[in-house]
Amino acid sequence: MEAFHFPNRRQFMGIAAGSALGASMLLAEASDDAPAREPFYFAVIADPHCAEGPKAGMEAYGNGVEKFLRCFDRMKELPKEEQPDFALVAGDIHPEALAPHLDKITLPLHVVAGNHEGSEETRGRLRAMFPQDFGSGDGVRDYYAFTHKGVRFIAVCDAGAGGDHIGHFSSELIEPHGQCDWLEKELRGPEPRKVLFAHIPPALDDVERNMYMGRNDSRWFLELVRQTKPEMLFFGHLHHPTEENRIGDTQSINVRSCCWNFKNEPIGFLLVRVCVNRMEFREVITGTCADKQ
Ligand SMILES: [Fe+2]
Repeated sequence: MEAFHFPNRRQFMGIAAGSALGASMLLAEASDDAPAREPFYFAVIADPHCAEGPKAGMEAYGNGVEKFLRCFDRMKELPKEEQPDFALVAGDIHPEALAPHLDKITLPLHVVAGNHEGSEETRGRLRAMFPQDFGSGDGVRDYYAFTHKGVRFIAVCDAGAGGDHIGHFSSELIEPHGQCDWLEKELRGPEPRKVLFAHIPPALDDVERNMYMGRNDSRWFLELVRQTKPEMLFFGHLHHPTEENRIGDTQSINVRSCCWNFKNEPIGFLLVRVCVNRMEFREVITGTCADKQ
């Protein structure tokens, strides 16, 4: 799983130089919203579960928040050109346990709520820690979008009230009402490149079960993705080794947890490279259970 899904630099340069899109990039002005001339990187981290204690066989990596911070330590060890611009955090964060350590993380974070942020109290804490994305007061929102180097990043909230493990886009805890209309508009927006992330993944096989979006939410979401073709989707929640799926032309990734995974599978995060004409990722494994070493 450590194998990079990236081509080497020479291959990348050859593809970029040969494309019309690559040539147009050279003319683009350098600003935060303008398409990047060079590849840039971002990280995706799932299910930090910061408040949880050390896990059997993984005591060496510490508790939940220590394993989350370990991800950022590993990023600092990456070559300069692979340093991510920011990290997406796909829910189940435990904001009360992260708050005392937040100043140790210098990388910008963009987070969404998980089912572990399924009460007024935990959702409120999460919103208060990231007001630049979630807003405040009457303007509070659990879903948002931003543009970085020409790519639209769409943060979706599918974790409702009461810690429900089944995902849905409407809940009395998801503010404001109207997320489906908003998401249709976002995915049909003018930006040619889009990335979406949320906590609970869609069910791809049209079967209603626990741990995925409900059947009707899944049907609506999959159809919207097929029509609008965002480039990549990222989800957490499953605590499985990272899985890759395709939804029409879109690559959809269920990301392993950086805290614990079922069957003592290794923990880690994703590093995504955004090239001029495609996105690629590799996994960075941050811990392996003693029985797997
Ligand atoms: Fe979850």
